[in-house]
Amino acid sequence: MKTTAHRPLRLLFPLLLLTSLAAIPAIAQTRPVPNPQLASRELNERVNALLSKMTLDEKIGQLVQYSAGYATGPGASNLRYDELAAKGAVGSMLNVVGAEATNHYQHIAVEKSRLHIPIIFGLDVIHGHRTTFPVPLAVAASWDPAAAETVARYGAVEARADGIPWVFSPMVDIARDPRWGRIIESSGEDPYLGSAMARAWVKGYQQDDLSKPDSAAVSVKHFAAYGGAIAGRDYNAVDMSEISLRQVYLKPYHAAVEAGAATLMSSFNSINGVPGSANPFTLTQILRHEWGFDGFVVSDWGAVAELMNHSIGDGPTVARKALGAGVDMDMEGNLYGTVIASQVRAGKIPEPVVDEAVRRILRVKFALGLFDHPYTQPGPAYDATPERRAAARKVADETFVLLKNEPVEGVGALLPLTAKARKVALIGPLADNQRDVLGAWAVTGDPKYVVTLRTALTERLGDRLLYAEGCDLLSGEDANVLKRVNFNGAVAEDAHLPVPDDAKTIAEAVETAKQADVAILALGESTNWMEGEASSRTKLGFTGAQEQLLEAVVATGKPVILVVLAGRPLELKWAASHVPAILEAWSPGVEAGHAVADVLFGDVNPSGKLPSSFPRAVGQEPLYYAQLPTGRPAHGDLGHLPQNPDEKFMSRYMDEENSALFPFGWGLSYTRFSYSQPTISRAEVPLREVLASHKPVTMVGVDVKNTGSVAGTEVVQLYLRNTAASVEQPVRELKGFARVTLAPGEQKHVEFPLGFDELNFYNVQMQRTVEPTTYKIWVGGSSLASAETSLRVVE
Ligand code: NOJ
Repeated sequence: MKTTAHRPLRLLFPLLLLTSLAAIPAIAQTRPVPNPQLASRELNERVNALLSKMTLDEKIGQLVQYSAGYATGPGASNLRYDELAAKGAVGSMLNVVGAEATNHYQHIAVEKSRLHIPIIFGLDVIHGHRTTFPVPLAVAASWDPAAAETVARYGAVEARADGIPWVFSPMVDIARDPRWGRIIESSGEDPYLGSAMARAWVKGYQQDDLSKPDSAAVSVKHFAAYGGAIAGRDYNAVDMSEISLRQVYLKPYHAAVEAGAATLMSSFNSINGVPGSANPFTLTQILRHEWGFDGFVVSDWGAVAELMNHSIGDGPTVARKALGAGVDMDMEGNLYGTVIASQVRAGKIPEPVVDEAVRRILRVKFALGLFDHPYTQPGPAYDATPERRAAARKVADETFVLLKNEPVEGVGALLPLTAKARKVALIGPLADNQRDVLGAWAVTGDPKYVVTLRTALTERLGDRLLYAEGCDLLSGEDANVLKRVNFNGAVAEDAHLPVPDDAKTIAEAVETAKQADVAILALGESTNWMEGEASSRTKLGFTGAQEQLLEAVVATGKPVILVVLAGRPLELKWAASHVPAILEAWSPGVEAGHAVADVLFGDVNPSGKLPSSFPRAVGQEPLYYAQLPTGRPAHGDLGHLPQNPDEKFMSRYMDEENSALFPFGWGLSYTRFSYSQPTISRAEVPLREVLASHKPVTMVGVDVKNTGSVAGTEVVQLYLRNTAASVEQPVRELKGFARVTLAPGEQKHVEFPLGFDELNFYNVQMQRTVEPTTYKIWVGGSSLASAETSLRVVE
């Protein structure tokens, strides 16, 4: 049986070929590709006909978005939205949810405003809408784009039923620093995996047809490079080379645009000194001219007004700069609505600039069919139906990463649990916690539907399950942490309060563990305002007294299985050397308990792989596998100097290894897989052939065999290294992957195509190119893959 690895479908990419190979070799460039859904003549005629009837104030009305529900940022406006809508001064709203609420404003806009232009309602639908699926970082850990597509599909269907045709998803920011809380919303550190996921999210929401009644337009965010925040502090500046920007950070946005994304969201951060929400280079040069984006750009919440804090001008100036750079809609900034008209009248902003922004917004409204079907049919109240729950469970099953499963003397491997354990102690603040396994940005997800691990294990074990909470997630944390986690004013009913006596609850947990054959610890983070936006951390360990709890239970000598429930890579160093079995379960959503139990009991063989490197110590951050080389590598396969492990003058830390504790791509299974020596169909290829088209020029093949006794799924990964480029290239880069399911003893042949798309890099002229060189190629089950072959590209 033969599987061909995942490779994106290409649209049209004509190449500019320079015939001379003398100085800079031939260059292959991308040409802008129009989005067929937004570029048709008929659509543009409708848009222009409407635009020609609009007054300046009505045009500006299309450029503003207000939050009339709850706030997802500071300083929400509190205006008379009914009056504004009746005047045609509300192009869009966010945080208004449900058929009744959205229809209320829509009736006013459509029936009372002069030109009857419908409002476009947007919302943060991030990992499902009413049915909460695993968080995006977890979905990326499945390495299964079809899983992302499923989550997006359910999200769109449920959002549309609630009157929302526009979702603020996917977040495609590359995240290489888990101090940044928003890593939970990302697909992790890698542009290749991130691009595959970006395409899948877009497809799931938009279905390649925005006019379908259950499609939702995406807003790809946060353009651009928001994940590169210095020191992992949210909203912080980004300062990086243009090569890194293009070769790493922009890749997934481009993939999303190629997949037909209807809108993008501009970011809060500055990029090399120019704010992302007033950046002509990213918003116009790259997005419009190079990529040919036809949709519209909405600012992030208040990002236009915040340009004043970036000190690039007063209100009128920053609004002019944002609009001029290509931010078409002002989210909750209330600046376009108040200062653009007078500037147009004063001749400071040419009216055609306003017209173009309005056109872009109207195109999306027409494409979504909002003019023909502006209202939402009220339906029955949401119910977590078995079918939706089953989908959430199936996706969650694929996302868990088995980090470690070492045999325990006299017991063997602890996982899967099967019948080995007569009595099981379930311990920890996340064992029976409905809210904190939903994940950040579960805006409309209701914790009451969540099946906890305690419930799921009780279903399987009955009174053979013992339980102790052990400690609160945050006991012992300082007052500021508590205040920020309990954000939103008064201490809510479900707020985290420090448990007064950890020593007592930990002692109770220890006693519980002693009565059992095995202890399962469910530890992690509060996903409520400790992860996600504005939730950066300087420490990456377990919060509160959880580490003490873990160490106390391990000290009983009972075998321990650690289930980590968190939306970022945590520092697991102590656990990795003292706990025999560790399962990373992220924030699994509504079916958390069932899905974790599926894997603990072996009904599902874990197949997830890390989309993000796990550090040994927070001081290694940002830590990612695709590092650039150094002249003094502490380890490494390309060292030209003699490798002496005791040499001091090498690129290393005094007090810690350079490597990740658990590297990118890592993940174990209940079975084992063996890899053959990879083959390459052509080991030498002429450069001109690589540059001539986007077709593969060679195929790397490998046989993967399940050598264990249970069926399993392996994510086969291909990495390469360009060993002689004019610009230094990462020591390894992912350039292919395939999920392969194998019965015990079964073997499959997997093939990875390589061509210009996999081999190119940006040269110093910012051109994508390939030069004569040798690529080292590795295939295996993680970024440590060692089965090797090579490819020579010759003149
Ligand atoms: C701010 C966040 O950065 C963005 O991701 C979100 O979509 C908007 N607020 C709207 O809630």
